[in-house]
Amino acid sequence: MVCLGNICRSPLAEGILQQKVKGAGLDWKVDSAGTGNYHTGEAPHHSSQKVAKLNGIDISLQKCRQFLAEDMLRFDKIYVMDSDNYNEVKRISGKLWDEKKTALLMNEQYPGQNMNVPDPWYGTEKDFHLVFDMLDKVCAAVIKKYSTQHG
Ligand code: 4NP
Repeated sequence: MVCLGNICRSPLAEGILQQKVKGAGLDWKVDSAGTGNYHTGEAPHHSSQKVAKLNGIDISLQKCRQFLAEDMLRFDKIYVMDSDNYNEVKRISGKLWDEKKTALLMNEQYPGQNMNVPDPWYGTEKDFHLVFDMLDKVCAAVIKKYSTQHG
């Protein structure tokens, strides 16, 4: 799960997908990163932590890290929150870029619409709730897709 800062959206996406993976009995490793390095080593934004906690998910132990080209090799699927960061993932990946592995996350729920998960960084707590709800629904679609494909 990749966003810009790995501080607001992608930590929520990691926590939400991780919880659903566990619930579905799947054996997936879920991680998140940011294309920027402004917050490396920090815990998620307090509003992301709060909204996650209100929904029964603890993301407080996550640590922000920057996306690396090698992540293209380490993971089977790279989901990106918006089109700017999709282009950044492509740029950072260089010759390791794999278009088939990389997708805009929201296309799993709304195929072909290239919708972005809005950045709540300059918003209010309400925006973090909206992001949580979007991520919760799209992560459910991801689980459904792969559970169906692999029995
Ligand atoms: P995120 O939000 O990409 O959802 O983690 C942001 C976090 C930090 C900044 C921008 C967006 N920033 O400019 O530091």
